[in-house]
Amino acid sequence: MAIKVMLVNGGPHKNGTTNRALDEIEKALTEDGIEVGRFWVGAKPIAGCIGCQYCATHEGECTFHDVVNEFNHIAADYDGFIFGTPVHYAAASGATTSFMDRSFYSQALGGVNIYPFKPAASVVVARRGGCSSTFDQLNKYYTIVQMPIISSSYWNMVYGNSAEDAEQDAEGLRTMRVLGHNMAYHLKCQKAGEAAGILPPAPEPAARTNFIR
Ligand SMILES: Cc1cc2nc3c(=O)[nH]c(=O)nc-3n(C[C@H](O)[C@H](O)[C@H](O)COP(=O)(O)O)c2cc1C
Repeated sequence: MAIKVMLVNGGPHKNGTTNRALDEIEKALTEDGIEVGRFWVGAKPIAGCIGCQYCATHEGECTFHDVVNEFNHIAADYDGFIFGTPVHYAAASGATTSFMDRSFYSQALGGVNIYPFKPAASVVVARRGGCSSTFDQLNKYYTIVQMPIISSSYWNMVYGNSAEDAEQDAEGLRTMRVLGHNMAYHLKCQKAGEAAGILPPAPEPAARTNFIR
């Protein structure tokens, strides 16, 4: 069966800088025989998580029936994920944050988690500043749900104010290609391991302690 990686454009521009960075990753993945899915979060407002816990009793469905539920259904079928965002005020775009908060939270609470043990990576683009903090921000989503993070030869950032600008960032585009090849390599190793009977560890019983108890 084909190995599939989902590339998410969390920026407001369908064909903007984030999309250009993801194109470069797609080329590398395709070269290595990986099937690629693309998802754009769109340019309409995306509500943030309101902590209503609806997802906990509705198999991971979010109470807002929008692009997040649409994505969760499609994403369940994928083996790896790369989330891309433009930098907005030295952080991920508001849409990316709302989208990822609700996708990761609803899946975890709904107990139909599409994410654990699937490799993930973040891609950030900016005109000038804030890439490192944004990169750290996105990587937090993966490390709370047991997703191995795939790295590249530099932190995954591309500079530019537009897709055309990004063409000039040779190092950034190289970083994207290396990331794509590394993701393909990791997934092939993981699938070979699974075929040889190496499976993720059995989950430990939950232990949930808040600071006040
Ligand atoms: C609301 C807003 C805030 C931004 N903040 C930053 C910033 O903090 N640092 C920066 O370098 N660029 C900033 N930018 C510029 C974008 O990161 C840049 O134009 C990027 O290439 C857009 O990617 P996209 O085409 O995928 O949306 C900001 C843009 C917007 C719309």
